[in-house]
Amino acid sequence: MKADKVTIHTLQDKKARGEKIAMLTAYDASFARLLDESHIDVLLVGDSVGMVVQGHDTTLPVTLDEMVYHSRAVARASRRAHVVADMPFMSYQASLDEAVTNAGRLIKEGGAGAVKIEGGARCAELVSRLASVGIPVMGHIGLTPQSFHQMGGFRVQGRDREAAEKLFDDARALEEAGAYSLVLEGIPREIAADITSQLSIPTIGIGAGPACDGQVLVIHDLLGMNDTFSPKFVRRYEHLATRIRTAVEEYASDVRAGSFPAPRESFSLRGGGENGPTPARVTAIADVGGCSAPAGGGSPGHEPAAPAKPTSR
Ligand code: KIV
Repeated sequence: MKADKVTIHTLQDKKARGEKIAMLTAYDASFARLLDESHIDVLLVGDSVGMVVQGHDTTLPVTLDEMVYHSRAVARASRRAHVVADMPFMSYQASLDEAVTNAGRLIKEGGAGAVKIEGGARCAELVSRLASVGIPVMGHIGLTPQSFHQMGGFRVQGRDREAAEKLFDDARALEEAGAYSLVLEGIPREIAADITSQLSIPTIGIGAGPACDGQVLVIHDLLGMNDTFSPKFVRRYEHLATRIRTAVEEYASDVRAGSFPAPRESFSLRGGGENGPTPARVTAIADVGGCSAPAGGGSPGHEPAAPAKPTSR
């Protein structure tokens, strides 16, 4: 393991030192590489993939096979970050044995360093079973999207005394069972602050105020990929929806005007082509258009070249 690799122990140490933990979701290798290079501590392969990538209204339809697939892509591209994979709806609720087998797939096939499960005290037995076979578990309480129907929608939780007390009980039960950290989602900041100060494991907040030991956001929300979705707890650091549309409209207009590709964005025959390709020239075409990926990424047969136009930055 690389010396600077973030592990569950790094996160515990950060809490002890009062250093905040930065966590974001990632679902593919391109984003995972960028976030890892930007020193994000934890990459969560969230079942939010069902909403932001697959286009569902909830996280409920996401399957274990899909989570394994996305987790593998993220793990492959992460050098420093700790990778956590969500256990999707109904992959851990039916039986403890099935849950252990399914969590094992996320670690073994998906390359994750830990799994995340939604639910409080009712998950304690599973947390300790997983911990006993060496699978670290991140808990998740408060607004738990997999309980969408039970909650009657995506609603802030723990606003009355009874509900707040249940959150404390759930948090303590998960810590005692062996969870190494805990996501607090959609709860009043005062409750999140108290839970954070009472637990020895790090809390990671989303819509839970500033006192948590760390924060997590869905990367698509942070980047403003969906301009119709702007909940109170999200801070947009970019407005990529607008920028992507502008870039794509420019591309389409260049294609329609015949100005893309320019000569320097295409290949030519070696030694000129006035008399049409000879067999030797046909070989030359095959050479430049070969299917190996260029070093540093890019599509097969795509030569990294200076952009035809300056970008908008
Ligand atoms: O699936 C997800 O993205 C999550 C985070 C928002 C905590 O569970």
